[in-house]
Amino acid sequence: MPTVITVCDTCKREGWDALNQSTTDGEDFATMIESAATDVPNLTVRRHSCLMGCVRACNVAIQADDKLNYVLGSFEPEQDAADGIVAYAKLHAESETGQVPFKTWPQAIKGHFVTRLPTIPKA
Ligand code: FES
Repeated sequence: MPTVITVCDTCKREGWDALNQSTTDGEDFATMIESAATDVPNLTVRRHSCLMGCVRACNVAIQADDKLNYVLGSFEPEQDAADGIVAYAKLHAESETGQVPFKTWPQAIKGHFVTRLPTIPKA
């Protein structure tokens, strides 16, 4: 089962300018993440409009069945952050539980975790 990166494509950071910007910060960030994840095995990227963390734009979720799931936010739509998210998601995909040792975290994702969600128990 692949790890899925869900990118909020409607996130707008403070200062986003509707008159001069034709795309949202979230759309720009999604494009960067999609580019970074191209051809990475066991990883898929999808877009979703609003993850309800708007005050922490830009937001992403990292999920997989039967693994710990994470929401991260407060990213600037920059390639370095996109690369860090993809690198972390790759480690998540390789982890049996979804837990990734802190010492292996890419620098770009440190300080951006919002929530960690445990797996849903099987009935
Ligand atoms: S618009 Fe991105 S979380 Fe609400």
